[in-house]
Formats: sequence, structure tokens, C-alpha cells
Amino acid sequence: MNGARYEIRLAAPEDEAAIRELFKEMLRSVCGADDAEGYPEGYLDKFFSDREDLIYAAELGSEVIAYLSVEVYRAEGYVYLDDLSVTAAHRGRGVGSALIELAETYALELGIPDVVFHVAKSNVRAFRLYERKGYSVFRDDGDRYLMHKSLPKV
Ligand SMILES: CC(C)(COP(=O)(O)OP(=O)(O)OC[C@H]1O[C@@H](n2cnc3c(N)ncnc32)[C@H](O)[C@@H]1OP(=O)(O)O)[C@@H](O)C(=O)NCCC(=O)NCCS
Repeated sequence: MNGARYEIRLAAPEDEAAIRELFKEMLRSVCGADDAEGYPEGYLDKFFSDREDLIYAAELGSEVIAYLSVEVYRAEGYVYLDDLSVTAAHRGRGVGSALIELAETYALELGIPDVVFHVAKSNVRAFRLYERKGYSVFRDDGDRYLMHKSLPKV
């Protein structure tokens, strides 16, 4: 990143356009679809409300280069990582890992040490990253795996 350092912060409604673009870029990467449908209208609202669901955004200069959306299922007892996307020019530099680690810290702060998310079976590189970060297959959901990690309580 030419020495420049990205910062991770909570996303706000002003980031919605950038997040929608990153979501479509993720779908193009994962599914190879050029006509990828974006999020439905209003889908992101829950992440900007006063609920526990939130989005972490990584910013470099004034550009949002990555995000991770996090949903909290208190009654069910887990935190679900909804979508993770790093723009192509900044992949492989630790941004995705940093976002996942932040979400894990958040889950521990909430007192919910179980984190789950889906990964497409075809997304082998991402799958390997998640395995390295301690996740394992919890359930086979057809073309996707549901991955799970029990966080060590500190
Ligand atoms: C998967 C992804 C979120 C990882 O974030 P990242 O910042 O690139 O990851 P990190 O730098 O923390 O870790 C690098 C590892 O990520 C994985 N990775 C997956 N896809 C990658 C890509 N296109 N480029 C680089 N690394 C990728 C690899 O395991 C890589 O390790 P390796 O270089 O030893 O193979 C990011 O590459 C991405 O947005 N890819 C396209 C969309 C996607 O697959 N999203 C996840 C859906 S579940």
C-alpha cells in the first residue's frame, strides 16, 4: 500500500454507496457474474441503526477499500459475519484478516463467543484463509459451507 495505512472504523450511512459497490465486486469475484444484483433497497439500514448489528469499513485516504457486515443473533447465541469484501487492488495485504479479528473482538465483548459465516465452496482461497484463522466446517449448505469458530474466552 506504498506505506499508506488503512484505518478501520464503523461504517455510517454515508458509506452505503461504497459498500454497495464492494458487495457487487465480491459477487463478481465469487460468482463471476457481471450482472450481479446488489443489496435490495433498505437491506443495509439495520447496520446503521442502534441495534447491535454493524459494519466495519476499512478506509485508505478517503476511499472505503473493504467492509465486513456483522449480525448479532443473541437469542440463538452466535454472531454471523454476513459479507466480507476487499477491493481487488488491496487484497492479500491483511485487511480481510484485520476485519475478521475486529468482529471476533466485538463478539467477545458482547459475550457471544461463537462466530459463524457462509463461504462458497468454489471460493477455495477464502476458505483456506478462514481455516488458517481457526474456522472449520459446521454444516454443508449445498454450494456453501457454514463455517464456525468458538472463540477462546479471555
Ligand atoms: C477473501 C478476502 C475477503 C480476504 O481478504 P484479504 O484482505 O485479501 O485477505 P488477507 O490479506 O487478510 O489474507 C490473505 C489470504 O486471503 C485469501 N484470499 C482469498 N482470495 C484472495 C485474493 N483474491 N487475493 C488475495 N488473497 C486472497 C488467501 O488465503 C490469502 O492467503 P494466501 O495469499 O496465502 O493465499 C478478499 O480477498 C476478497 O474480498 N476476495 C474476493 C471476495 C471474497 O471472496 N469475499 C469473501 C466471501 S466469503
